[in-house]
Amino acid sequence: MAGELPLSKLDLRSMETGWSHAKAGKSIDGNALTIGGKVYADGVGSHAESSFALQLDGKAREFTAAVGIDSEVGNKGSAEFVVMADGRELFRSGVMKGGQAAKEVKVPLGGVKLLELVVTEAGDGIDFDHADWADARIDFAGSAPVVMPIPKEEAVVLTPKPGPKPRLTGPRVFGARPGNPFQHRVTATGTKPMTFSASGLPAGLKIDPKTGLITGKLADKGEWRVEVAAKNSLGSVTRPLRIVGGDTISLTPPLGWNSWNCFAGAVTDGNIRDAARVMAESSLVDHGWCYVNIDDFWQVKPGSNDPTLQGPERDAEGNILTNKRFPDMKALTDYIHGLGLKAGLYSSPGPLTCGGCSGSFGHEEQDAASYAKWGFDYLKHDWCSYRPESEKDRAKPAPRLSVLDSITNDEKLKLMIPYATMRAALDRQPRDIHYSLCQYGMGNVSEWGDMVGGNSWRTTGDINDSWSSMAGIGFKQAGLEKYAKPGRWNDPDMLVVGHVGWGPALHPTKLTPNEQYTHISLWSLLASPLLIGCDLTKLDDFTVGLLTNDEVLEVNQDELGKQAGRISKDGNGEVWAKQMVDGSWAVGLFNRGTAPLQVSCDLSLLNIRGAAQVRDLWRQKNEAPASGKITRTIPRHGVALLRVK
Ligand code: GAL
Repeated sequence: MAGELPLSKLDLRSMETGWSHAKAGKSIDGNALTIGGKVYADGVGSHAESSFALQLDGKAREFTAAVGIDSEVGNKGSAEFVVMADGRELFRSGVMKGGQAAKEVKVPLGGVKLLELVVTEAGDGIDFDHADWADARIDFAGSAPVVMPIPKEEAVVLTPKPGPKPRLTGPRVFGARPGNPFQHRVTATGTKPMTFSASGLPAGLKIDPKTGLITGKLADKGEWRVEVAAKNSLGSVTRPLRIVGGDTISLTPPLGWNSWNCFAGAVTDGNIRDAARVMAESSLVDHGWCYVNIDDFWQVKPGSNDPTLQGPERDAEGNILTNKRFPDMKALTDYIHGLGLKAGLYSSPGPLTCGGCSGSFGHEEQDAASYAKWGFDYLKHDWCSYRPESEKDRAKPAPRLSVLDSITNDEKLKLMIPYATMRAALDRQPRDIHYSLCQYGMGNVSEWGDMVGGNSWRTTGDINDSWSSMAGIGFKQAGLEKYAKPGRWNDPDMLVVGHVGWGPALHPTKLTPNEQYTHISLWSLLASPLLIGCDLTKLDDFTVGLLTNDEVLEVNQDELGKQAGRISKDGNGEVWAKQMVDGSWAVGLFNRGTAPLQVSCDLSLLNIRGAAQVRDLWRQKNEAPASGKITRTIPRHGVALLRVK
């Protein structure tokens, strides 16, 4: 058989698209395929991020197409078209923008067995990326190309169940500011009841033997090497814990939960209590998870039709008030703290939050004081309605960090001022509050998040539970590793595993099992804050497995505080590596493509000569030693997470 097969004649249900679904002979919106004003009679309309895999027999001759952004979006949208053959790149369009004329694709296919047509969002998100493969056809000589269906994956729990003997988990370093209430929980897995102890604690701190909670106050700055112990009927175990009294907290990335990716604008006090209760009663707490964070919608929403959001925004003195769904914040944080956990809250430097609720503009001092008085341990401060011009409208100038005096770049200064203002207010509170900047990465926030005292800063827009969103964000973190260090973390947004949904109706994450392993592995390598985004009352075994692997979490929580960087990339295969405190490397071998792929890590890139010990972290199993390189076959959108020494 031989002939020309138009792409539009294939079963396009297996073409992945970041939005809507691929259309034969039409644009993604169903219009005539048009690029740069030129109309094409045939082709396929798709949307970034997209991929389509075809099996060939090695005898096909050529793939041809005209690619570009469909004219239906005007000059908006930007995407890159990539043609891959057996995991190698044959064609890359460069960034194509709305309005531009099409680029011709003409690539030989001799010997090729797997053809992948990929559209990436080109670094600015998928909005308006209406991507056309116009006049796309395959000239074949042997058997006709066959579409590779999106495979069904079984949700296999790789994490072994923890053993009955005590095993200490969680971070090995903890920072606190002297004089403020100290709260750190020593955690362990193993049969209960468990008793905890600590030797060498600095003056002012004590440990509760039943819960492992270390509380009290540090009198002074300093560093203490404490030995913590956990004991049950089957034995006991000890481990060092470094306590650092100083100005910087969150010396390892926070581990916790946030309400946004599940409940969003529907959140209630009851949801928060449920999350705290499940975190404390399920195994999560034994693996170091501790923050329970309320996102937007605990405040009043001016002008809302929803009676539960109505009411006065502030009292007569200007103190922020809660909406009716949150009747008593102090009672709520008491409940959370009573479970040995920590509590988080959300606001905006602007007058309104992203959801249109009351923000902190002009009330920073009062709001910081309210959060501290209520007992919050975490603040996410979300840009949204903030406008730099409004600084001149302040009744009185806000106190802010003097570090700003040295900034001469006006644009940067404008972005820094609102965050420095709240930082100064938080500094005056007698409480350690993790400060999370959220402004989606504007002005390369990683470069200055540290200067305004952020403990973490969002580097991207919002995540959702699709491969294109999660992978698009995660793999775009390459290069930011130089900015991460203890107490200062890049934040690629919250986790989308389990039941998510942004409102009252939830659904199981749309990420496949392998994509979820990629998500947790990559976020652990990136030393990102890990904030679970799902309804904890709907946890299933697979999700619990993803969130309770201590060897994976150890990659995230490593004391050195390094963030992984991309050390090599070959087509769809990427290798990311993170240096660990014991001299070993945590290494992720990723496959961003749709067909299984051999991915190799060249050990010389890690300065490893001779035989290396290799451990599979998800399975918690040693593998055969390797020398020269480590090669694994990685499934579609999957990962192997290894520790190499
Ligand atoms: C967005 C933010 C989300 C969530 C939301 C609340 O700007 O990135 O994570 O907090 O606002 O309205």
